[in-house]
Amino acid sequence: MAVDILKISKDALEASKLYDDVINASIGMFYDENKAIGGMPTVSQAIRNLTDDEMLPYPAVDGGALFKNNLYSWVFKGYLPIIKQSFFMNACATPGGSGAIASVFSLFGTPGESIFVSNIRWQYERFADRAKLNIFEHNLFKGDHFDLESFDQRLGELAKKQKRIIIIINDPCHNPTGFTLSELEFKSILSIMNQYKDNDIIFLYDLAYLEYSHEEDNRKKLSYLPMLLDHVTTVIAFSGSKTFGVYGLRLGAAIYLSKKEEVIKDIHPKFVNEARGSWSATPTASIELFNKFSIKENYDRFKVDLHKINDLVQKRSESFITQAKAIGLKTHPFRSGFYTVVLTPHPDEDYIMLAKHHIFAVPMSGGVRFALCSLSLKEIDGLPQKIKSILQL
Ligand SMILES: Cc1ncc(COP(=O)(O)O)c(C=O)c1O
Repeated sequence: MAVDILKISKDALEASKLYDDVINASIGMFYDENKAIGGMPTVSQAIRNLTDDEMLPYPAVDGGALFKNNLYSWVFKGYLPIIKQSFFMNACATPGGSGAIASVFSLFGTPGESIFVSNIRWQYERFADRAKLNIFEHNLFKGDHFDLESFDQRLGELAKKQKRIIIIINDPCHNPTGFTLSELEFKSILSIMNQYKDNDIIFLYDLAYLEYSHEEDNRKKLSYLPMLLDHVTTVIAFSGSKTFGVYGLRLGAAIYLSKKEEVIKDIHPKFVNEARGSWSATPTASIELFNKFSIKENYDRFKVDLHKINDLVQKRSESFITQAKAIGLKTHPFRSGFYTVVLTPHPDEDYIMLAKHHIFAVPMSGGVRFALCSLSLKEIDGLPQKIKSILQL
């Protein structure tokens, strides 16, 4: 069972009641420079302004037509017409990106079979355990790049063992490394999936951190999806938690795309049934909040808040990485996002050692993950040096 990040964060909070030098880099929530969580005042205000009618009734289980149309426009932006031309599509509201991931495993996984993930990853095994699925890994990096060879080779091995394969790609701002695929890497991944025509591929595209990528056009990669052939069904996992900084509100969605109409007709009632039979419905307040920010004038105000957060998160990361480089502290290749991983020899012992020195972070394969999104610039100043000397790296 994967380490419990919420528990590490709680330990950090307990420690901070006793000591004033606690650094809580355990959890992917944005905190401002004064350690306050409401980094997007327009969002906090909009939540406070929700009326009873916008919070209390049961919602449509899938979020309703307005929500879904807003969602498509939000995620695909200018590429929506190409997506609509190329695919049949439907969606279901979920309580966070987590709900979308859990549903995909439950609906498409066969107990005893494996999901296909990178060796360095967020905690997909939590969802896999629940759906009684195993993990089949490919290597994530070759030098500073995505390891396409390993992706292809390992996918080939799994494709011989099971017909249906759920492939997870977490991009941009990969958790835990902060890596973002290049357009070429993304296209190559899609081409590789296309080659496995005898398999039934479910491409789970986890773009929880879409808004935090510092690419010139952070939607561009979505415009390549139409090259996928009809044995690939794409499910996009959208996270409102990260997009709006509303982690506890539980807002997310699954958007499913296929070249075959019957696939989408078959999947949609299954997603709705999965929701009804597990969490029932996504909070009405979340759905309404999303609809509010899909109105242009609200969206424009939200963008101002988002830019501020985004710039700060990037500054924090750059500060950490620059200091780390200067003292030879090794990290995985980083581009942007909430996290970075410091490479350490014994992650499970190293994170405990760091916690003893009041630095709370999360062990991962190959290192310890630091959620820089939750640290102030002041806390980051000198942190790589502290880590290096505590762990004697
Ligand atoms: C990579 C990744 N995907 C999905 C999620 C799901 O987030 P939520 O369920 O809060 O939307 C997270 C949250 O940390 C994440 O890091």
